[in-house]
Amino acid sequence: MIKVPFEKKVYLSSPTMHGDELKYMQEAFETNWMSTLGENIDEAERMICDKVGCNYAVALSSGTAALHLATKLAGERLYGRSAVGHGTLEGKKVFASDMTFDATVNPIAYEGGEAVFIDTEYDTWNMSPKALEKAFEIYPEVRLVVVAHLYGTPGKIGEIREICDKHNALLIEDAAESLGASYKGQQTGTFGDYGIISFNGNKIITGSSGGMILCRNEQDADRARKWSTQAREAAPWYQHEELGYNYRMSNVIAGIVRGQIPYIEEHIEQKKAIYKRYKEAFSDLPISMNPYDATNSAPNYWLSCALIKPEAMCRQIRSDRDVSYETEPGKTCPSEILDVIGSINAEGRPIWKPMHLQPIYSKNAFVPDRVGDGSGKDVGSDIFERGLCLPSDNKMTAEQQDRIIEVIRKCFE
Ligand SMILES: Cc1ncc(COP(=O)(O)O)c(C=O)c1O
Repeated sequence: MIKVPFEKKVYLSSPTMHGDELKYMQEAFETNWMSTLGENIDEAERMICDKVGCNYAVALSSGTAALHLATKLAGERLYGRSAVGHGTLEGKKVFASDMTFDATVNPIAYEGGEAVFIDTEYDTWNMSPKALEKAFEIYPEVRLVVVAHLYGTPGKIGEIREICDKHNALLIEDAAESLGASYKGQQTGTFGDYGIISFNGNKIITGSSGGMILCRNEQDADRARKWSTQAREAAPWYQHEELGYNYRMSNVIAGIVRGQIPYIEEHIEQKKAIYKRYKEAFSDLPISMNPYDATNSAPNYWLSCALIKPEAMCRQIRSDRDVSYETEPGKTCPSEILDVIGSINAEGRPIWKPMHLQPIYSKNAFVPDRVGDGSGKDVGSDIFERGLCLPSDNKMTAEQQDRIIEVIRKCFE
């Protein structure tokens, strides 16, 4: 087979602009609201509250900033205000998703806390409620849980919320990747005591950057807003009585977000069609798609991912920075598929490497949900080894996706 690469790269997930974004940016420019104040910010916050059904949304510079402020709000509520130079979670353990992007968990360390990683479940590729229960048995003193909905698929957030309530713990919900996804009809990001979303360039909608914290009450939203603008007190001069940050969203970025929000559903439909095409095309191969709870949840299908069956895996050896594999007839591995996809100028990506495998967190505790095959392997490590993210750009044409499918199928020959 001659592998003619695509002339234009097919991305994993790239921004898709529609037109109104520019109009709102232009308005900010023409009215000189080139600041962290303005109509675009107010409108973007209002529209997100409307869309997800939350009480308060505060627009920030990134999803990571939102996670930091959510973590700090939770820490302050649980353990009181911290002295300058100390985090609100100093010396405290916090349960966190293991298979996620590190932005979910880093804010625990920003606040001086220690993440205890909770393994993943096969059903949704998100935090295992079973492992979370086990974690509370081992560490009954823990009062905070940070959970992410990976790749746009809702985790079992109803069960997780119940476990948190039973153990009197607060819940932070990282919906950076799952904006527009719902569980039992309720939008992700609204189950937690605090939720966050991201408008990073690769997300379901984007502001080029940006994020929001979703709060249940006005006091929390006011505190987050105050912290995000250097924690200025209401005084005639710069008066500071606590630590602040420069985390507020710009009115220009908010113009892009404002223009994008009406397109969330359209983007989800496009991503859903991509997921379905892959699923159908791979139905006769020893490969499955990232699963979801079809009875209770509606994903936003942000990334389509695949998991190779154990019996169809060729030998793949990964070190901290490198990988090698040995091809075998009828077998393949994520690294080979990623190479083949790359060779036709399309972008895939390995599964997010679980946090308990990351050198930075090698000393943190991990509560596994063991694989039932007797290997002793945990679920996150297994999915990382056998899984990969497929090109999921909503501008990818059906013909381009067919080519990608074709080269993947060849890997199993
Ligand atoms: C699960 C998850 N959490 C948090 C973030 C951080 O968001 P941001 O890039 O807006 O800081 C991202 C992605 O970027 C993410 O994928």
